Amino acid sequence: MKISQIKAQEVLDSRGNPTVECDLTLENGMTVMSIVPSGASTGVHEALELRDGDANRYLGKGVLKAVENINTKIAPAIIGMDVENQEEIDNKMLELDGTENKANLGANAILSVSMACVKGAALAKGIPLYQYVAELFGNDTTSYKMPVPMVNVLNGGKHAIKSSDVQEYMFMPIGANSIQQSVQWCAECFHNLGKILKELGFATSVGDEGGYAPSLGTNEKPLELMVQAIEKSGLTPGKDMALGIDAAASEFYTEDGKYNLASEGRVLTGEELVDMYAGWIEKYPLISIEDGLSEDDWDGFKKLEEKLGDKIMNVGDDLYVTNVKRLEKGIEMHASNSILIKLNQIGSVTETINAIKMANEANMHSIVSHRSGETEDTFIADFVVGAGTGYIKTGSMSRSERIAKYNRLMRIERELESK
Ligand code: PGA
Ligand code: ZN
Repeated sequence: MKISQIKAQEVLDSRGNPTVECDLTLENGMTVMSIVPSGASTGVHEALELRDGDANRYLGKGVLKAVENINTKIAPAIIGMDVENQEEIDNKMLELDGTENKANLGANAILSVSMACVKGAALAKGIPLYQYVAELFGNDTTSYKMPVPMVNVLNGGKHAIKSSDVQEYMFMPIGANSIQQSVQWCAECFHNLGKILKELGFATSVGDEGGYAPSLGTNEKPLELMVQAIEKSGLTPGKDMALGIDAAASEFYTEDGKYNLASEGRVLTGEELVDMYAGWIEKYPLISIEDGLSEDDWDGFKKLEEKLGDKIMNVGDDLYVTNVKRLEKGIEMHASNSILIKLNQIGSVTETINAIKMANEANMHSIVSHRSGETEDTFIADFVVGAGTGYIKTGSMSRSERIAKYNRLMRIERELESK
């Protein structure tokens, strides 16, 4: 079915900053809408998120240029195309942009149209979005793998000032047999963690991704309290519920190549940092470490992989930025065994699919992820089910922009159960 209209506008994300919404109309009059998210601890190698820089509006964060690019440049080129030709549509936009990092049109502009086309095609075909995504991947559309959620219940780093240096501490319900059970367990552990924090006299206000953000004094303390919360919830640490972290280490990497754990008043070398992680893995059911080292510390990642790669998911986020060129390098040098997947890091659905396919071929895990600045758009919930990667990272058990994704996953699961 042909695309008959594309119209973009400025809306707000979960941090109250402007972002791009795209409304797409098909020739039969049906419409879909998509909104792009936005990161805070962004990798330097990410595609460019176009912002106006006009200090008189939204402190320079307006996205009217990106909106204008959609309405005046992308729309005329895409209108009339078959909405099911995803690759052709995405390639057309890349061609129009003409830069390596989407600096002309903006990755936010391109991605909002790209996602809207996927939704439009599913609607045109009269099938669920996750099923259409599975078709795009060439996956089996008769059986689906629901993901293990990685639930970020303690927020630090750039997502919660004055908390831990490590950016995220996550529950991973590895023993749950459904999304519904995963969500229930994680919600119970989240609330029990809140009770523990309260009893100890710590704050239970939340950070950007809906996790608590107390100043616990060390980067290890959260792991200890999370194990207590798992036990308090009647679950077995390591069997029912495991732990993951996102160090987002680029954020505390220093100019002289060290790692500054400011909350502890310690500066470590890359090797000392890896030793610290190794110690945690011995003591806690920690099975996933994301961005354990800085985004260009390829050798550090390789050392982490050599030392701990058989025990944990060693995840590259800022390291790869969902970019096949960087992923290819990582695969060649065995820098990690897992990749974080963020659509807006690369800026189109087709390129995102290609990154996941490359990771699959290299037997790496792919974790589909939200951004710290999110929206009510639940695209990634359907995307992870269709892609079948088995893991999703979409925040804590609070804040509706996070919960919206869990609710959508539960709806998908119920729909699949009833079939
Ligand atoms: P960001 O954080 O969206 O602020 O980049 C998420 C992450 O680092 O995984
Ligand atoms: Zn990350």
